[in-house]
Amino acid sequence: MSCLIRPRPLPPSTSSATALRVKQIAGQIAPGNSTPGGNNSSNTAPRNGGSSSNRTRLSRPHHHQQQQQRSTTSRTRTMSTSSATAGAAAPWRDLFLEHVDAMPSPEFSLSTIRKVRSGRGATSSRSSAGGGSGGQVEVTPRVRTCVFRGMWADMPVNPKNEAERNPAGVFTSDLPVFTTDVRMDKMPELFGVEVDEDAEPGRAGAGAAGAGGAKADEKVVGSGGGAPVEAMFWVKDSMVQWRLRGRAYVLAPEDADDGDISSGADGASSEAGKKTVKTILERMRPVDGSSSNSNSNSEATKPWSVRREIYAHFENLSPGMRGTWRNPPSGQPIDLPVGDERLKLGQKGDSLVKDDLARQNFRVVVIVPEFVDRCDLSDPARGRRWFYSFLGSDGQAKSPGGQVEGEWEKVEVWP
Ligand SMILES: Cc1cc2nc3c(=O)[nH]c(=O)nc-3n(C[C@H](O)[C@H](O)[C@H](O)COP(=O)(O)O)c2cc1C
Repeated sequence: MSCLIRPRPLPPSTSSATALRVKQIAGQIAPGNSTPGGNNSSNTAPRNGGSSSNRTRLSRPHHHQQQQQRSTTSRTRTMSTSSATAGAAAPWRDLFLEHVDAMPSPEFSLSTIRKVRSGRGATSSRSSAGGGSGGQVEVTPRVRTCVFRGMWADMPVNPKNEAERNPAGVFTSDLPVFTTDVRMDKMPELFGVEVDEDAEPGRAGAGAAGAGGAKADEKVVGSGGGAPVEAMFWVKDSMVQWRLRGRAYVLAPEDADDGDISSGADGASSEAGKKTVKTILERMRPVDGSSSNSNSNSEATKPWSVRREIYAHFENLSPGMRGTWRNPPSGQPIDLPVGDERLKLGQKGDSLVKDDLARQNFRVVVIVPEFVDRCDLSDPARGRRWFYSFLGSDGQAKSPGGQVEGEWEKVEVWP
């Protein structure tokens, strides 16, 4: 997997002011510069699965947007051709969403890397990952179930969501989203920071550290992250396994702001937040062909803010699910005092505007994929498998048989 986050190129056909602004923000052209062309310019959606009665599929409006994007995916070039189809949707996107949409609940396994620092020196069986503290760092895998909440900037519509929504028809992406709680263990793993072994489960200090054992490391409290992850979806009805590898970026409600990122705003108040938004923005794209969308003429001129997107993700969840951000801290022994009587199981959540506890704890996580592995076992006699690697603009295919589709290389491999 390439670790490089490349500036995201844009479709040449997109001449809107939005496209220009995204280019500026992504650092491809400076604000005020000319374009190359010379113009100046549910309440039922579950977070943790939930019962069959509150399961939600990606809604029709989502498919409507997919249809628009399909038109941008079609140009294919081979290893020797260099013409770019910059800004096209990822070639795996439509099929992936079709499969995930058909799942009873769009659950996936999220794997991360945990780095545990030992102050007492390590045994020879430990793999050292360096570590600046003088101790050894043990690197071990973690995996858990999460729920896919749609692609970033392309949230499934939940009619019961009363939060203010970002305008449709402005941005889209190939970046899967899930939601989580800052107090969970995965948080230092998403940031790639080390945790102290004394805070690990089964140790005397376990659960007392907060913020996933990172000893309230300030780095994990706000927006940030960027550590490697893999998200694995087994879509049994289609007999296809999808593995999306990339980096995960965490967005915190408290440091996201109302700035219009389509007009060049940073989208966040903290430096880490600005950096995080910029990284995500590099892989967002304006919705192409927006004139075919009846809403888009008026909608696309409205501001699009990161804060609004985070708040809307919260209210896309059921009230019971929203209440879980007021749970006692995940992973803490129940015999330890919770320390805040507002933290209880079984509460119903409202909106992030009204709920300061949920605002502190709620996080939206955006996965930026660099590599996708699609393994299709629907024909028992002829399993098929494809690797998709993110190349960025003007990338050349590297694998024998590899074809460049938009910003990705696609190659068929043996299953
Ligand atoms: C069906 C199902 C869906 C879940 N969805 C999520 C989710 O979307 N986000 C999340 O943080 N945890 C989710 N969980 C809980 C996680 O699997 C895990 O137990 C929790 O996040 C703590 O993990 P950690 O200690 O590794 O951070 C889900 C669990 C189940 C069983």
